[in-house]
Amino acid sequence: MANKSKFQAIKGTRDLLPPETQLWNRVEQTAHEVFATFGFGEIRLPVLEPTELFARSIGLNTDVVSKEMYTFEDHDVQGLEIIRSHLLRDMDLHPGPGDAQYITAGLNQFLAAANHEIKRGTLSRTPEIATALLRLEQDMNFFAGVSPTMVLAEYGSQTNETRATLQAMEWGMEVALRPEATASVCRAYIEHGMQQLPQPVKLYYMGPMFRRERPQKGRYRQFYQIGAEILGGSDAPAIDAELIEMLMTFFGKLDLEGTTLHINSIGHSAPNCRRGYVEKLKAELEKVKDKLGPDSQHRIETNPLRVLDSKLEFEQGVIEKLPHIADHLCDDCAKHYAAVKQHLELRGVIYRENWRLVRGLDYYMRTTFEITAQGLGSQNAVCGGGRYDGLVELLGGPPTKGIGFAIGEDRLILSLQEGAKSATASGAKPNSPLATRHSPLVYIAWMGERAYATAVRAAKDLRNAGFSVELPPTELKFGKALGQADKLGARFALILGDNEVSEGLWTLKTLADGTQTKLPEPAIIEHLRKSLSPVWAGFSPSPGL
Ligand code: HAM
Repeated sequence: MANKSKFQAIKGTRDLLPPETQLWNRVEQTAHEVFATFGFGEIRLPVLEPTELFARSIGLNTDVVSKEMYTFEDHDVQGLEIIRSHLLRDMDLHPGPGDAQYITAGLNQFLAAANHEIKRGTLSRTPEIATALLRLEQDMNFFAGVSPTMVLAEYGSQTNETRATLQAMEWGMEVALRPEATASVCRAYIEHGMQQLPQPVKLYYMGPMFRRERPQKGRYRQFYQIGAEILGGSDAPAIDAELIEMLMTFFGKLDLEGTTLHINSIGHSAPNCRRGYVEKLKAELEKVKDKLGPDSQHRIETNPLRVLDSKLEFEQGVIEKLPHIADHLCDDCAKHYAAVKQHLELRGVIYRENWRLVRGLDYYMRTTFEITAQGLGSQNAVCGGGRYDGLVELLGGPPTKGIGFAIGEDRLILSLQEGAKSATASGAKPNSPLATRHSPLVYIAWMGERAYATAVRAAKDLRNAGFSVELPPTELKFGKALGQADKLGARFALILGDNEVSEGLWTLKTLADGTQTKLPEPAIIEHLRKSLSPVWAGFSPSPGL
């Protein structure tokens, strides 16, 4: 049914429309409720952050930082930027000594504009900017003195130098659309001195994230996460287990089916722990390099652990024979991992150990986990998380323990929808959070001016009582109005004509079976409440029902 219009949502982004958004709200509301019972408070974070924040925390060799971030230079000197790009273009178009006048004029204009921006305070005179401007002034003098007979080589090398100086000038800060929010939470923890608060600090967030990935089912360039982080205090294994318990409670409340919790420990970065393992892994990988694809071959150098993540069919046999990290953990990490498992068992959380679960971001240590769910195809991880002691310190804060997770909300919704489809196909009732109906409960069919005034009042009263009401804005014959009510999927029609208004008795029609009853105005709300089955109550957006 999609129409081709001039403008379309950018590749990898999409509109979320009603009634589906009702399910999104229900999921988010459940998160607010469940997370609050575990003592978490909501943090709302900016979507833009310094690129450096992610480069430092997620790691330069990760896919997210090296390929997928949306970054730009944030500055207030658009005019200067335009002059620079024109000047660079002029230098390409006029490559000979005879053209030096164009470059001289361009540099003159550029220097005047830069000094103007400095005076206005929109460009700061950093030592780098001051040096570049001085150099460009000297270059301008050079070009002003160029004669048409100058040797091309000398002219060309000066042009290259000027071009390099211009290109290297940075006006503002490199910023990124956040690809995740853990780094932002740590930044906020440091910025607001949250280490002074009683520890640990438990925060959760929800909102859009951006990664330039190849879009496919369950993978978008703008996607949504619901995440939680515990910062500060101890690294007691019970914290890891309780966080995972909260996650499973949340999924349980949503009746998310077919979930599997995968856990692992990737130790810490000491020579007798992960670092030692990575060296061994690298050595083993070198031996089987020829049997791996180009991506994995590249990763042997940049990030050997990530080879374990490969989903390529032909690499699986080779990877399965590689050494396991569990056999190379130091005593402390091994003890911590064993205790996390015990604490999960104590809480009745069922897990599956997965020695290949290394996660794609550099900040993890010790506990890592992922949850897969049904109906998602190859992108079946609905949540990922782990421990990241040391990240706050890496970002300039005090030594701080940390652990958290992020749920891919798009995937969670997809999985819930897939679950509902198969439940419907097998004749079972759909789960309540999936009831994404946006139909009005009551459609008010009115005729006549007096009736309209009553209808407006009735709509107000019913909505105040929490019922969803559709009030047609113009008069419709009753037959047409009832047809409309049917089309919208309303459960009841409240019929208001001259008779009803003068008698003070309103007609309420149940659309499914056509039965009608006449009731005095005050009894209508009570009648609606009573006639709602529990199933309907589950679907209703009203908290009062
Ligand atoms: P992540 O594994 O990169 O971890 O992402 C978490 C979840 O976000 C994934 O399991 C997936 O459900 C969803 N997700 C990721 N990329 C996409 C995408 N392109 N389209 C749709 N969904 C996607 C993190 O982001 C960490 N910050 C999690 C964390 C919090 N670790 C500790 N605290």
